[in-house]
Amino acid sequence: MIDGKKVLFSGMQATGNLTLGNYLGALKNWVSLSDEYECFYSVVDMHSITIRQDPSEFRRRARNLLTLYIAAGLDPEKNCIYYQSHVSGHAELAWILNCFTYMGELNRMTQFKDKAAKHADNINAGLFTYPVLMAADILLYQADVVPVGVDQMQHLELTRNIAERFNNIYGEVFTVPEAYIGKVGAKIMSLQDPSKKMSKSDENPNASIYLMDDPDTIMRKCKRAVTDSEGCICYRDEQPGIKNLIDIYSACTGKTPQETVKEFEGKGYGELKPAVGEAVISVLRPLQEEFARLSKDKAYLDSMIKANAEKAGYYAAKTLRKVQRKVGFPDRIR
Ligand code: TYM
Repeated sequence: MIDGKKVLFSGMQATGNLTLGNYLGALKNWVSLSDEYECFYSVVDMHSITIRQDPSEFRRRARNLLTLYIAAGLDPEKNCIYYQSHVSGHAELAWILNCFTYMGELNRMTQFKDKAAKHADNINAGLFTYPVLMAADILLYQADVVPVGVDQMQHLELTRNIAERFNNIYGEVFTVPEAYIGKVGAKIMSLQDPSKKMSKSDENPNASIYLMDDPDTIMRKCKRAVTDSEGCICYRDEQPGIKNLIDIYSACTGKTPQETVKEFEGKGYGELKPAVGEAVISVLRPLQEEFARLSKDKAYLDSMIKANAEKAGYYAAKTLRKVQRKVGFPDRIR
């Protein structure tokens, strides 16, 4: 609790271009939850170096991501929006938690297996212990709630297990966090292969809608989306392509999938696809305009980055000192 409010933590990586999946599965919910909670939204740049990055390109992407958080509607005066690498407590707590996490647990992480297969020439130790750093991110702020897409659930379960294990040994040190999964949009699938999630790193550019795509590109990608030959706009697992388009439309318009199905009753895919395109365009346009405006305001962004890193650092240090005492590190002499 901070000032009587429950705490929320979430983060995103600045690798690749953000997709509609990132927006509908995470960022959109962050905005809707931001009044209710004391929020920490991090650009998790330390996670990103588990995969090789070009330094200047990486720095640019991280800045863009932070700008995008604000452009999406997160007020940086109320929400703590900061770079993970600006708060050393993340790395310090991650080391301690490494000593409370088992190899067997990390071996079971599907994201590690996927990424290791994709980057077989660089299976570094950081990639393996990535979920421990993620646990440190969350536990450092004593977060009650963590809004994420479905793909992060396994990491969140691990975080809960680490917190409970630590608490069982040392008493109630960490708040055990709950995941917040949105009702629609928690797993947006690829437009070209609806059995796979929409991903920043997909090699097929038609598979993902990127947040900075222009209207024509968005429309073209929606019209080319892979569907089926059933000819029925039904919300069911047997029609994953159509189900995904219904999810996207519903998440963008605030309707339930059932309402969307009703709206398109008796209509064909040729009507659904452009309607999805329009819905996505109207959600992304204001975001893109605000992003363009904010990006020019260097002084404002810099002052927010500085102030919020200090704020995050303050709360991080509080937890870290407590944990260090619990495990028996010597007191500092002041
Ligand atoms: P990342 O950067 O891959 O994704 C950021 C957020 O977007 C969600 N997401 C999706 N949601 C719906 N459909 C999709 N196709 C889709 N693709 C991505 C993700 O679930 C996530 O919520 N490990 C994390 C970053 C992280 C983090 C944290 C998150 C580091 N520390 C602490 C929460 C709390 C990651 O790589 O997310």
